Amino acid sequence: MVKICGIGAGYVGGPTMAVIALKCPSIEVAVVDISDSRISAWNSNKLPIYEPGLEEVVNQCRGKNLFFSTDVEKHVHEADIVFVSVNTPTKIRGLGAGKATDLTYWESAARIISDVSNSNKIIVEKSTVPVRTAEAVEKILTHNSKGIIKFQILSNPEFLSEGTAIQDLLNPDRVLIGGNQDREGLEAIQKLKAIYVHWVPQDRIITTNLWSAELSKLADNAFLAQRISSINAMSALCEATGAEVSQVSHALSKNTKLGPKFLNASVGFGGSCFQKDILNLVYICESNGLTEVANYWKQVITVNDYQKGRFVKRVVTSMFNTVTGKKIAILGFAFKKDTGDTRKTPAIDVCRGLLGDDACLSIYDPQVTKEQIHKDLSVSSNVVKQVSVVGDAYEATKEAHGICILTEWDEFKSIDYQRVYENMRKPAFVFDGRNILNVDKLREIGFILYSIGRPL
Ligand code: NAD
Ligand code: UGA
Repeated sequence: MVKICGIGAGYVGGPTMAVIALKCPSIEVAVVDISDSRISAWNSNKLPIYEPGLEEVVNQCRGKNLFFSTDVEKHVHEADIVFVSVNTPTKIRGLGAGKATDLTYWESAARIISDVSNSNKIIVEKSTVPVRTAEAVEKILTHNSKGIIKFQILSNPEFLSEGTAIQDLLNPDRVLIGGNQDREGLEAIQKLKAIYVHWVPQDRIITTNLWSAELSKLADNAFLAQRISSINAMSALCEATGAEVSQVSHALSKNTKLGPKFLNASVGFGGSCFQKDILNLVYICESNGLTEVANYWKQVITVNDYQKGRFVKRVVTSMFNTVTGKKIAILGFAFKKDTGDTRKTPAIDVCRGLLGDDACLSIYDPQVTKEQIHKDLSVSSNVVKQVSVVGDAYEATKEAHGICILTEWDEFKSIDYQRVYENMRKPAFVFDGRNILNVDKLREIGFILYSIGRPL
C-alpha cells in the first residue's frame, strides 16, 4: 500500500488529502498538523472549515484510509510521498517585509522531513511558493542525508477555490505537475500522475519543469485578480458615465476571447491568497530588477484598495456625510459565499472605515462567528459598543439607517425586503457591494439603493 502524508491540515491540505483518499482506496493518507485544535476538529463531527460537500467526503474515508494526526514525525517517516500544504503568508518583518513570502513554515516542514526520513521520498509542493523555492527546499532536505536518501521535489500547485473546493478537486480544469527533467525527476512526475489518473482525465494533467509550475500558480492568481480589478476599475467609470457595469460585463463575457468568468464587479476581492501572491510576484520582479513589471502588478492591489475605499466613501456621502451614531447593518462578513473564511475579506476594511466614522455596526454572517469578527476588527473596549454580531438578517437590519451587503450569500437574495424596509429608519439605504439585489424591486419598495457600477 502506498502511503501518503499531507503536512498541513488547513483549507488546502484537509480537502485535498480527503479527496485523494476518497478516489484512491488503495492509498493510506495521513494528514498531519502542528495544531492540536485543528486535528481534534478534523477528528470530530464539527470540521474546522466549512466547505460544501467536505463532511460527506471525510465521513466516507476517515478511519479507513484517511487519518488526521499531530504525530508529524511518525507519518512523514512512514510515507512514500509527502504533500506539503502549509501556510505561506506575507512576511511581516525583516527583508522584504510586506511583500516577500514568509517561508518559515515551509522550512520547518522540510527540516522535519529531512530529520525523520530513512527512505527515498517524493516531496510535493502544494503550498503556493515563490518561483525557485524547490531549489532551497532541496538544500534543506539533503543537508543531513549525506546523499544516501534521495528526495525528488515536485511542484503541484493547488487551484481550488474556497466554497467550491470539493467540486474543484473532484473535477479540476487541470492538474499541474512540475519536476526535474532528468530521469529520476520524470519518474517522480509519473508516480504523482498515477495518483491523479484515478479520477482526472489524462489530458487534463499538465507536466512542466519545476520553475514553470511554481510560476504558473502565481501567474494564475495574478491574472484572476487582475480581471477583478479591471472590471472594478470599469465600475467606477460606469458610475461616472451612466453605463451599467453588469451590462458591460455581459457584453464582454460573450467575447469568446475573454470568456464569462471573473467579471463580477464587487466591493473588492478578498481571500487569503490573491493579495499575498501578487505581493510575492511584485517582490520577485523587484528582486530581478524588473521595476516596470513589478509596478504593473502592484496596480492590481492599488485598484482593489481603491474599490474598498470608494465603497465606504459612498456610504458616508450618501447618508448626508455623516454616519456618526447611525446603525448600519452589515450582511455578510466572509470573503465570499459558502465559506466561513474571513482572511483579507473586504468586510474588514469596510467595517473599519465605517467605525472610523463612528457608525454602529450590526453584523450578520451565516458562517462567521462573533469571536472571529471581533478578532478581525480588533474590537477593543472603546469600540465594543459600536459592534454587535447578531443571528439573522432581520435582527441586523431592525431600526438600521442603512444596509451594506458585503458577501453574496444566496440567502440575502430571498430576504423579505418589504419587512426589512418597514422596520428600518427612513430614508432607508441599501449599499449592495455584490450586485445581488433586484434594483427595480427594492427601489419600488422605497429603498435608496446604491450598487456597484450603476448610477444612483
Ligand atoms: P491554512 O493556514 O489554512 O493551513 C496551513 C496549515 O499548516 C495550518 O493548519 C498550520 O498549523 C499547518 N502547519 C504550518 N507549519 C506546519 C508544520 N511545520 N508542520 C505541520 N503543520 C504545519 O492555509 P491554507 O489556506 O490551507 O493554504 C495553504 C497553502 O496553500 C498556502 O500556500 C496557500 O497560498 C495555498 N493555497 C491556498 C488556497 C485556498 O483556497 N486557501 C488555494 C490554493 C493554494
Ligand atoms: C482563488 C482562485 O480563484 C483559485 O484558483 C486559487 O486556487 C485560490 O485563490 C488560491 O490560490 O487561494 P479563492 O480566493 O478561494 O480562489 O476564491 P475566488 O472565487 O477566486 O474569489 C476571490 C475573491 O474575489 C472573493 O472575494 C470574491 O468575492 C472576489 N471575486 C471573484 C469578485 O469580486 N468578482 C469575481 O468576478 C470573482
